[in-house]
Amino acid sequence: MRFDDNLTAERPTFVTHLECALTGERHDADIVHNLSRAGKPLLVRYDLAGVKNALTKDALVRRAPDLWRYRELLPVRKTTDIVSLGECVTPIVPMPRLSRKLGGGDILVKDEGRLPTGSFKARGLVMAVSMAKALGIKHMAMPTNGNAGAALAAYATRTGIKTTIFCPEDTPEVNVSEIALQGADVYRVNGLIDDCGKIVGEGKAKVGWFDTSTLKEPYRIEGKKTMGLELAEQLGWDVPDAIFYPTGGGTGLIGMWKAFDELEKIGFIGSKRPRMIAVQASGCAPMVKAFEDGVEHAPRWENAHTIASGIRVPQAVGDFLILRAVRESKGFAIAVDDGAISSALNEMAREEGFLLCPEGAATYAAYKQSLKDDRVSKSARVVLFNCASGLKYPLPKMERKLDRHQPIDYAIFK
Ligand SMILES: Cc1ncc(COP(=O)(O)O)c(C=O)c1O
Repeated sequence: MRFDDNLTAERPTFVTHLECALTGERHDADIVHNLSRAGKPLLVRYDLAGVKNALTKDALVRRAPDLWRYRELLPVRKTTDIVSLGECVTPIVPMPRLSRKLGGGDILVKDEGRLPTGSFKARGLVMAVSMAKALGIKHMAMPTNGNAGAALAAYATRTGIKTTIFCPEDTPEVNVSEIALQGADVYRVNGLIDDCGKIVGEGKAKVGWFDTSTLKEPYRIEGKKTMGLELAEQLGWDVPDAIFYPTGGGTGLIGMWKAFDELEKIGFIGSKRPRMIAVQASGCAPMVKAFEDGVEHAPRWENAHTIASGIRVPQAVGDFLILRAVRESKGFAIAVDDGAISSALNEMAREEGFLLCPEGAATYAAYKQSLKDDRVSKSARVVLFNCASGLKYPLPKMERKLDRHQPIDYAIFK
């Protein structure tokens, strides 16, 4: 096995067409798409019988540990179109102390902070940019809460595609800087991510940008799908009892749900599914409200606010897909407030030495709440998604100065 086999060896591809997620209408593969003719997300469909013949679990064992090991289930056809920055398999980190303390089952954190640009947005954007390269797209635009814009900037710059990115004005400083440093034109906007999305939509009509917004572009979801493929493979072709996912636009949740379906169809897993649990912040919880109201679409959440900026998404174009996955899996949607998010972050850092991002901390807070409410059983093995490195976020200042000119009382260090 060579480190770059997955990026260089030609392998058969199986995309047959794209399908409207609402109406099922077929759209041709290998041409530029945004939403379907019905204005809904497009899902990539594969000849899964063909994949089943071509791919074995043993063949995967011999491949390098990156997301391109699943090429037969991905849309990029030619190796020359792959734009890579080293998309490693992310580790699953158990949290035994917290499991013991809570008296619950295994807590496993899938740490997506190890990916290029420090977040799971790399998975979606590596696929979107590789497909943009394949399809000859020259200028991509995107609304972002930070991490997605950083990943788009990095991959697009690597392959010479121009990018224009809009983010809410209070987007974490590190995100705005990394986007700019990685070669994009970035603008802070006095509004939320959906206001930024409107600017991109208008720019698409007026200056021909390619709109790379969540689920308005068909391939980000295919990249995010690899979280589900990878998770199942890491667990020995099994799935956990529940997945807690910090839900903004929901691409990852929808993508994992699609992954499990495809894995079953190619015979790699059975019919068992994890309960999909959509975690939101109480200051922006449109999916939780829609779930509780028993409806299929979520109206815009007004005055959205939370410290977990990645999940501050007032309205999601894939709302019905998120809710469908949550309901079909017998999962639920749950909101946690900023206080619970902060204390979850502190608790895991202090007790397990693991620094979550605020969105990841929301999943731990939600898990604790769900145990308390008996919505998740004490024996359940759960996976929490830590979607970005905790180091990307502002950290509290520590004032602990030692005056080396004064006598030091070493007893304080005991
Ligand atoms: C750290 C982090 N967590 C979660 C999310 C939400 O992801 P999704 O759009 O897949 O719901 C984001 C999106 O910006 C994010 O940056």
